[in-house]
Amino acid sequence: MRIGILTGGGDCPALNAVIRAAVKTSVAYGWDVVGIEEGFDGLVHCKTRPLGTANVSGILHLGGTILGTTNAGNPFTYPTVVEGGETVERDISDTVMANFRKMGLDALIAIGGDGTLGIAQKFYEKGMPLVGIPKTIDNDIGGTVITFGFDTAVNTARDAIDKLHTTAESHRRVLVVEVMGRHAGWIAVHSGIAGGADCILIPEIPFDIEKVAECVFMREQQGKHFSIIVVAEGAFPTGGTLSHRDPKQAGREQRLGGVSDQVAKAITTLTGKETRAVVLGHLQRGGPPTTFDRVLGTRFGAAAARLIRKGQYGRMVALIPPDVESVPIKDAIAIRKIVPLENDLLLAARDTGICFGD
Ligand code: F6P
Repeated sequence: MRIGILTGGGDCPALNAVIRAAVKTSVAYGWDVVGIEEGFDGLVHCKTRPLGTANVSGILHLGGTILGTTNAGNPFTYPTVVEGGETVERDISDTVMANFRKMGLDALIAIGGDGTLGIAQKFYEKGMPLVGIPKTIDNDIGGTVITFGFDTAVNTARDAIDKLHTTAESHRRVLVVEVMGRHAGWIAVHSGIAGGADCILIPEIPFDIEKVAECVFMREQQGKHFSIIVVAEGAFPTGGTLSHRDPKQAGREQRLGGVSDQVAKAITTLTGKETRAVVLGHLQRGGPPTTFDRVLGTRFGAAAARLIRKGQYGRMVALIPPDVESVPIKDAIAIRKIVPLENDLLLAARDTGICFGD
């Protein structure tokens, strides 16, 4: 057996833990492992490197991915510059299929989020034997209770909120902390609850800025002269739209960002309180993975190799407690896992006085 491993989409803590476990398990099975660099782009341009136990030694605790990654360059809509300088999207998936065969690969492990897993599913349907591993700090992939990287990102955000808490209190300010979460507010909810936020704004609940201001105002009346508002980058006001950073580029997802600035300005206007916005951004994607993510990453990597050994292609490893099991990739990507509105997580937040701007 000769298997390939790639990491696609935005990076995420514990990618290296997953690669290490997948390589060690595969080597134990007597397989050759090829590292494919920069996601599916490595299969477009045949950018590879051999991966043995020596290459994955000492990477368990490192953030990032030793294979590199990209969230551009989907081979089914590959951005290509044509005559006149215009960029158009072309389907070059047949080239990837040919390169996969040329490299002598028998199977592929694709580690990625909904974008990468969506591409993987299409290649599986074209006949590529592959398995998937769910990765995203946003925790919004279906089929698995949790994705690796989420726990580390939440801890990073919670640590930042703890630090912002003390300065907010000293200066009697409102601090608006923007965390990642394009379509789902998992990071905002978990870091907000753990960090003692007063208000949490998430994509699942369009917010009314007047309600947010009311929360700040009520705290003021109770003698609490500071407030912490955690806002997911994908949160938007009722009847409003998402905040975008720049125009969409071909072959890439639209960049989100800026909602914290809007919230901060509106809060100043409505309450007269000095308000500051802090965008945590890519800090949440870096750093050493937590213990939880190292363990989950190790379980996912080893389980993916086991799936290949059993010939269970087209499937994604998934944490379905207490075990790591597997689900069809197509089912996992069919429904985005968003924060459920009726679940006790939000109830507990509301019961303890957190406002969601609704
Ligand atoms: O991995 C998902 C994510 O963290 C989103 O929450 C965020 O919108 C996106 O990545 C940012 O990606 P980029 O690296 O392209 O700025």
